[in-house]
Parts: sequence; C-alpha cells; structure tokens
Amino acid sequence: RNIRQAFSRQKALEKIKKMEKPALGSKKVKLKFTPKISSGRDVLSVRDLAVSFDGYQLFKNVNISVYRGEKIGIIGPNGIGKSTLLKIIANIKTDYEGEISFGHQVHTGYFDQEQTNLDSENTVIDEIWDEAPALNYYEIRRILAQFLFYGDDMYKIVEELSGGEKGRLSLLKLMTSNANFLLLDEPTNHLDIDSKEVLEDSLINYEGTVLVVSHDRYFLNKVVNKIYDLSEDGVFEYLGNYDYYLEKKAELEETNDEVTINKTKTQINAEKKKERELIRDRQQREKNIRELEEKILMHENEIHELETKLCQPSTYADTFLIMNLNEKLNIRKEELQELYTLWEEFIDN
Ligand SMILES: Nc1ncnc2c1ncn2[C@@H]1O[C@H](COP(=O)(O)OP(=O)(O)O)[C@@H](O)[C@H]1O
Ligand SMILES: [Mg+2]
Repeated sequence: RNIRQAFSRQKALEKIKKMEKPALGSKKVKLKFTPKISSGRDVLSVRDLAVSFDGYQLFKNVNISVYRGEKIGIIGPNGIGKSTLLKIIANIKTDYEGEISFGHQVHTGYFDQEQTNLDSENTVIDEIWDEAPALNYYEIRRILAQFLFYGDDMYKIVEELSGGEKGRLSLLKLMTSNANFLLLDEPTNHLDIDSKEVLEDSLINYEGTVLVVSHDRYFLNKVVNKIYDLSEDGVFEYLGNYDYYLEKKAELEETNDEVTINKTKTQINAEKKKERELIRDRQQREKNIRELEEKILMHENEIHELETKLCQPSTYADTFLIMNLNEKLNIRKEELQELYTLWEEFIDN
C-alpha cells in the first residue's frame, strides 16, 4: 500500500471538493471542562518535604507551590519518588516529614494506571451520570462522545472495557466529579493514540488545576506550562513546557561550563548544542509524520468498517443504529480531513 500515492489522489479530490463546497468553519468545538467547585487561588504549598523508606532517604528539600489553573508536569529519573510524591499529596501515603497545605476549597482527584476510581460493575453512562446528575441525557452523550464513547459503547460494563477505554472513562469521571485539582500518575502509559489525544485535549480544555507525572515529552509539550524536575535534593522549577525545559537545561549547563572552561570549549559546546537541536527537530518532524500516517490509516480503516456496517441489510431496519453509524462516520471523516491537511502541511514544510 502506497500511502503517499493515496494522499496525492486524495489531495486532488479535496481540491475539487473545496471548489464545490464553500468552506464552513468545520473545526470541532471542544468542550470546556469547568470544575463544579472552584478552588481558591492558592492550591497547594509543599514545604521542605522529605521521604524515607526503611532508613533510606528518597528525597528532601522538596518545595512546591501550585496555583489555580496551572498545568504542571513532574519529571525525574525512575525510582526518584515521583509516584510517592503524588500519593502523599493525594493523602494516600501519610508517612513524610515537612509541611503540606492546601488552599481554600481544594478537592483532589487521583488517577493512576490502576483506575481505582472506577466501579467495575457499573455501565459507562452511569459512571459519569452518577458524578454529574444535573446533566441531561444529551449532555451526557455529548461528553461521552467527546471521550470516544459512541452509541452502544455507553451501555458497556466497566469490567469489559479495554485499557484505553478505562483510561478515558477514568479521566472523564474525575473531570465530572467534585475534584478541582487532578493528580495524574503517568496517565498516557499504554494508551492507544486516540485515547491519548482525548486525554491531552481534555486536559488542555480543563479549567481546574493539574499536577501530572509523565515521561511522555509530547504529552508534556502539549499540556503543561510548568515543570518540576525532581531529584534527591529537591525540585527545580522550569516555567514552560518540555521543550523549554530542555532548552533551559542546556543553557544552564553551558553557563556552568563557561565559568570553568576557555572560550574555544564554549564555542564547541554551542556548536554541539546547535547540532543536537537540528537532530532533535528533524527527529521530531519525522516522528510527527509517522504518527500522523498511523492515525490516518486507523481512521481510514474505521471509516471503511463503518461504511461496511451501514451497507449490511440487517442495519436497514434499525433507524437508531443508522443514525449512530452516520454520526460516527461523519466525525471520523471530518477528523480525517483535518489529518490530511496536517499531513500536507508537514510534508510541504
Ligand atoms: N511502600 C514502600 N516501601 C518501601 N519502598 C518503597 C515503597 N514505595 C516505593 N518504594 C521505593 O521508593 C522508590 C521510589 O518509588 P516511586 O515513588 O514509585 O518512584 P518513581 O515514581 O519516581 O519511579 C523506589 O525505589 C521504590 O522501590
Ligand atoms: Mg512512578
């Protein structure tokens, strides 16, 4: 299968279509998630936190300030204590030294791979409706659709869901709960691309506060605007996303070098840095294209499946099913067009 040929055919078709159809603002309207209860401006203050296990000190001097609406990433090497830190803030672990205080009306919501906030015997729709009983059926359906639960999906039992579905539902449940301060531990691990994207988009559109442990630099780049780098001696704060963190870190290293090493070395370092950046940019671009192509294929496959289903005689009699399939199909087709456009932009650059 030659994906590029397929795309140029598609490109030609697109041009024709564009001439036929006036461009309507087809960008999807993403739902904003506003917590039911708003917290005060100060959300969390951690002062001189230190944690030990069996006499071995994990970290000390950890100082963190979180303000309403911030999206913060916590990074650091494996085993340094990121999960432990999150559990302490979530009040799951209580054995520590130091001071932790929350601001006015702060309600935490904790999320990890175990998805312990889900009731395995409940249906998808009830999991969310129980959290947000004030919403009507159509609002619930719209929210569920935004989290990729279409049609009959919403009557599935939690136990039967895939990992990605559970991840999506778990986050949606948190966002519709009373929580206004989300503590997320590696939320994108093991998620399929679609689920990951939903997670990213909904967190971007979430108006509460988020503290998230993640290794996923693409996720961090999209979602967070502040990074805490955890080490044995405390946290270092970077006021930006992951790319900013890398940039700043390289700069700091360079400044340190300049003090001790002569200019020639500095120049060499600068060149090396530039080279690293070029390589990084190229790798990033290639990865973006690969990810897009993968997404496009998944969309094309799904559209094909939906069209096949629509053509089955057994579908004819079921108006509700036809409506559902069509709704799904339209969403997927619209998304596919956006993906094609993005892909073209990347290829042309
Ligand atoms: N209950 C516990 N008892 C003893 N050691 C633990 C306990 N929980 C975690 N640890 C240890 O603490 C360290 C940090 O764990 P963790 O917080 O999961 O790190 P991270 O999330 O940064 O990878 C690990 O070495 C782990 O083995
Ligand atoms: Mg961890």
